[in-house]
Amino acid sequence: MTYIGIIGGSGLYTLMTETETVDVDTPYGKTSDKIEIGRINGVEVAFIPRHGKKHTIPPHRVNYRANIWALKHIGVERIIGLNAVGSLKEDYSPGDIVVPDQFIDLTRRRDLTFYDGPDVYHISMADPFCPEISRKIYETGKSLNYNIHSSGTYVCIEGPRFSTRAESKLFHTFGDIIGMTLVPEINLAGELSMCYGMIATVTDYDAWSDTAVEASDVMNIMKENEKKVSDILYNVIPKINDQRNCNCSLRLENAKA
Ligand code: ADE
Repeated sequence: MTYIGIIGGSGLYTLMTETETVDVDTPYGKTSDKIEIGRINGVEVAFIPRHGKKHTIPPHRVNYRANIWALKHIGVERIIGLNAVGSLKEDYSPGDIVVPDQFIDLTRRRDLTFYDGPDVYHISMADPFCPEISRKIYETGKSLNYNIHSSGTYVCIEGPRFSTRAESKLFHTFGDIIGMTLVPEINLAGELSMCYGMIATVTDYDAWSDTAVEASDVMNIMKENEKKVSDILYNVIPKINDQRNCNCSLRLENAKA
């Protein structure tokens, strides 16, 4: 059995049953909030609200190292990240769900590694997402008849501001979706040999299209997307708590310099 961690929005509090909270001390400081341990569809999971329970932590201030270290410390081996994203392509429409398979990191000032020396590791990120979790998320979303994309390149910007039109037109040529929180969460999970899969929900067409993105639009469609994410999680979690059949646990092999 593998223990599953979820990092994401506040909708999880209503989906989880039999919950208790734990506070984990980490060498990197405080996690975004206490970790909520409970069950989804009978399976024990651990949940961290990335922006804090009251949504008080902006993307560039999330303590990604503390969150990932704490999940690892309590025994989590697989992480599902939940993310609201903008669309950089016409056919990724607001309301759609995306299971990204690649990313481009445009963040600037985040603590992005556990290996700050003297131990030096260069982990492979050629295929950053766990293929097994990603496939199961996609198949589950499809079986629920949601508009779901099996792949996509996630462009991760520093935020907290949205992109200018000129930036967005450039990013339109880089990838399919845009957000502010995938990196360094995914690299840090990889550095601790954990699997990482994502359910991204599209909230808006970014500024490359004719409309400018407003935070209020994003919040409205996010609420509608919450139910889809809950449905997928409820159905997929029992399918990914068995043995890992991926290579994610081997990421540190041959990575030491
Ligand atoms: N999150 C949701 N929509 C976004 C956008 N357009 N850009 C960056 N992050 C987002």
